[in-house]
Amino acid sequence: RVVYCGGEFVSEHEARISMFDRGFLFGDAVYEVTAVIGGRMVDNDLHLARLERSLSELAIPMPLPRAEIEAIQHALIEKNQLMEGTVYLQVSRGEEDREFVYSADLKPTFIAFTQAKNLLNNKGQTAGLAVNLVEDPRWNRRDIKTIMLLGQVMAKRDAKAAGFDDTWFVEDGTITEGASSTAYIVTNDKRIITRANSKAILPGCTRAALLRLCSTHGVALEERAFTIAEAQGAAEAFQTSATSLVTPIVRIGDVSLNGGVPGPLTRQLQAYYLEHVN
Ligand code: PDD
Repeated sequence: RVVYCGGEFVSEHEARISMFDRGFLFGDAVYEVTAVIGGRMVDNDLHLARLERSLSELAIPMPLPRAEIEAIQHALIEKNQLMEGTVYLQVSRGEEDREFVYSADLKPTFIAFTQAKNLLNNKGQTAGLAVNLVEDPRWNRRDIKTIMLLGQVMAKRDAKAAGFDDTWFVEDGTITEGASSTAYIVTNDKRIITRANSKAILPGCTRAALLRLCSTHGVALEERAFTIAEAQGAAEAFQTSATSLVTPIVRIGDVSLNGGVPGPLTRQLQAYYLEHVN
């Protein structure tokens, strides 16, 4: 595989990052994941806009202008002949001796790579997933897409060990979001409910695209927090992300939804989203 590292395209075996990189030592870095379907990037403008926002919240400069980053993404897809999968971008503050307080003149470290992955034809897309519910273990700036993902790593490990496919996080009795996705429920009168954007969740790019599709297709939507009881009593549920697209949720904790199969409105939204992607 060809990757982008140190300002050039190199084989993944030649790519080198300093052990003093602040991304490695402090998790002082942000990332983006863009889906690639049929060789084309999905909602990439939204991902590049969010990258710029995450960096600006941390006062890390953009490593390159947006157009150049996009050109690198396209080149990687081309060089690796990627048809379906993801393009990953990561920017760290840069490297220097380990001190919490950083110097003003650091040069950000920028890497990018592609990863082949089956996004369309998998268990989540077809049969739906079961999610575990756990207290949200994360810090209070979840709107920044940082690489500090240990809470997510541990939650997903625990979910797997307990026989679940994924995890939804809970705070003060309400769902914040999925461990790596945005969470939604569908009420009996066919309204979609998802939490409003704030520092409590990552503003999902797939969420933004789906909300636009709901408005285009006249699907009713409410942006507000919802409780565990509402989620477990919902007609349907689903989650979205660059890698999971629109994925049905058929069980929340020990409660099955819609008889354990993906609901009709969820299926409709999957179809709208695939239309938007293709
Ligand atoms: N995760 N919330 C969290 C905590 C996430 O990590 C993600 C995405 C999302 C959905 O965002 P988007 O629709 O822009 O992908 C919400 C990516 C896929 C990841 O970490 O691999």
